[in-house]
Order: sequence, then C-alpha cells, then structure tokens
Amino acid sequence: MRTQVGIIGAGPAGLLLSRLLALRGIDSVVLENRSREHIEARIRAGILEQHTVDTLTDAGLGDRLRRQGLEHRGIHLQYPGTRHTLDFPALCGRTVWVYGQTEVVKDLVAAQLDGGPPLLFDVSDVRPEDVDGDSPRIRFTAADGTPQALECDVIAGTDGFHGVSRPVVTAGTDGRRWERTYPYAWLGILADAAPATDELVYAWHPEGFALYSMRSPSVSRLYLQVDPSDSIDSWSDDRIWENLSRRLRLDGWDVSTGPVTEKSILPMRSFVSAPMRRGRLFLAGDAAHIVPPTGAKGLNLAVADVTLLATALTRLLREKRTDLVDAYSDTALRRVWRCTHFSWWMTSMLHRSGDDFDAQLQLSQLQRVCSSEAAARELAENYTGLPVE
Ligand code: APR
Ligand code: PHB
Repeated sequence: MRTQVGIIGAGPAGLLLSRLLALRGIDSVVLENRSREHIEARIRAGILEQHTVDTLTDAGLGDRLRRQGLEHRGIHLQYPGTRHTLDFPALCGRTVWVYGQTEVVKDLVAAQLDGGPPLLFDVSDVRPEDVDGDSPRIRFTAADGTPQALECDVIAGTDGFHGVSRPVVTAGTDGRRWERTYPYAWLGILADAAPATDELVYAWHPEGFALYSMRSPSVSRLYLQVDPSDSIDSWSDDRIWENLSRRLRLDGWDVSTGPVTEKSILPMRSFVSAPMRRGRLFLAGDAAHIVPPTGAKGLNLAVADVTLLATALTRLLREKRTDLVDAYSDTALRRVWRCTHFSWWMTSMLHRSGDDFDAQLQLSQLQRVCSSEAAARELAENYTGLPVE
C-alpha cells in the first residue's frame, strides 16, 4: 500500500486532517484500531469555537452542525448568591456552538466513507517506521488479520494520549514533557431532560464545582467535581441529581432532572509533549497534549493543530517547500500553551481544593471576572478561541 500521508487514529484530528488534505489534492489513508461503532459512541466534549465551526463548514461539514448545533452567546459564572452572565459578542465579538464531539466524528466518518480517502477500522499492531528518512512507513495488521505495510511520504500521529506515535517522537528527539494531574475528577452524565438554562452554568460551590451543559433542547450534559478515587458505582442517579441541585440551584431556580442515559468519571490532567515532530512524523491533537475539560479546549485545539498541519503538509508535498513543516511544532505549541494555561486557570478558579485560603482566592478571582470588563474580556477571548496563526 502507498499514500502521501499515513494517518494513525480516526478521532477528530485524524479524520479532519484527512478531509482537509483531500480538499487540497493530497491523498491519505486513515488507520483506526477501534470499530466505527466505538469511535462514534465515545461521549466527549461539546463546545466548538468559531474557527472550528468555520473550518468544518469550509470543509463541507457544516450542514448538520448549523441545523442541530446551538449557537451560544455567553456563559454563566456562579458562586453562592450570584449568577453572572458573560456576553461574548459584547466582550469579544465572537460566539461558540454547542454540538457534541460524537456528532462531529459521525459527520467526519460519513464524509470519509462517502468517496473520501480510505479509512480502515479495527487494525492492530500499528507501528510507524523509518520516520527519520524520506520514505517512512506504517506497519500494521488489517482487520482480516493480514500484515500490511503502508508506504508514505509523511505520517501524522493523531492517535490520542494512549497512542503509539508520541513514544516514537520522544524516542528520537531530546524532547520534553510537562504534566499536572489535578486532585479532582469530573463525574459526567447525559440525561433525557430539557436543560433548565439557555447557556452553560459554571458554578463554584463549597461542596465542589458543577457544570450545567447540554447537547440539544431535550438532552442535558452535566458534570460534578468528585474525588479521583471515586467509583461511578457509588454514585446513584438520585445522589448525582441531589448534588447537582445543591451546587447549581438559585432562589426559585433548579436543575431539570430526567433519566440518566450515560454516566462516567473522567480524570483531569494537563499534559504537553514537545516537539510535535520527528522527521516525517507529525503529532496533532491529544497525541501531543491534554487539557482539563473546564475550558472546553480539547477538540478545538486538535482542530487548530490539523488546520496548521494540513497547510504545512500541502506546501511540502506539492511545492517541496519545508518552511511551514519546519515551523509546525513551534507554531502549534504556542497555541497549545495558551490553551493549556487558560484551561489550568479556569480549572483552578472553579474547583474546590479543600483549602479555605484557596477558596478565598477563587471567590476573589470570580468576583473580579464578574465585575471587571477587562477581566471578563480576557476569559471571553480565550474561551471563544484566539485567532489561529
Ligand atoms: N492505532 C490506530 N488508532 C489508534 C491507536 C493505534 N495504535 N491508538 C489510538 N488510536 C485511535 C483511538 O481509537 C481514537 O479513535 O486514535 C484516535 C484518537 O482520537 P482522540 O483520542 O479523540 O484524539 P484527537 O483526535 O486528538 O481528538 C481530541 O478528543 O479525546 C478527545 O478531549 C479530547 O476533545 C479532544 C479530542
Ligand atoms: C460539554 O458540554 O461536554 C462541556 C461543555 C463545556 C466544558 C466542558 C464540557 O467546559
């Protein structure tokens, strides 16, 4: 087998990269070690920045998003006795869209399978090779058990945090990694309940953080700060709703409950690995970095990486110019660190550490954001997404 770009991983990063390259006349093959059903069922985040919506729309993937997605003009920040609304258009002239990552992946997979580049599911033993030369390859076992070798000009490692690509990059570079594991986790639920709020509510509470989000006018998505060692089995639906209500309710307003259709506990970490390149192997998305979900950056950062990478690889493969691929890692990492800082800042401001001094600092920061237009603008600009370089 031969292609110009071998792509490892069919998450949002890998699928969108393949689509963007195809639109520029660059062929690719996407290798995914799970099934279509599995990758389309993974419950993930749901906030799209304007540049993400624009990129998907320009790639011909905006129809269902604009029909079913919800455009949001702000968020609510809450702490005991106060719910303050940040008006994004007034603060920074941008909005965000609520549209589940599962829906983005479904749209990308459908486009790929409708005459797009090859997308191979259920592969195994994926191994990038000879990435330091001009003729790298990916060895793998196909779903039918036959060993394969995909000869490429370039390999994109979009295989997420647990993928095989990052170790190959770190083995061949004097790279560095930074990691912070937070002393709390998020218990997330999907519920068949009409959201009681028009826009997201991020609530600081003495008992812990809570987030009121949604997927549609009839499906709510909510999160509770819990201990990382908590087991989902110790959280009955009633206990979840009771805690959500305690942390989110205000005088005369409460959460709308309904049947819980999915619940899970997600760990929280910040992680960055640099560089994002080794020879002809380029990392993008969760393969190179992880942000805590508080700032809703994960998917948008993956989209920003592959937007950069698609342009850089097109310049390399069509014009034989290496300037953009040589600059890719540094350019991508500037945005990665900006989003890593913002996600850390939102997380640190909103989650109880158990320390009362921390609580006073957090409440002071929240009061500052709710009373200062400059402080609110800084949050709004980061949350809605800074321009992609
Ligand atoms: N071979 C082939 N595919 C692999 C391998 C492998 N060795 N290892 C992992 N994969 C696949 C995973 O099954 C997954 O479908 O790579 C894909 C990686 O996708 P994501 O983890 O979703 O990462 P990315 O595309 O960068 O998207 C980032 O997804 O996890 C969320 O919060 C994250 O919103 C962010 C977004
Ligand atoms: C979600 O809807 O899943 C969501 C929204 C905002 C966040 C994180 C997750 O900050």
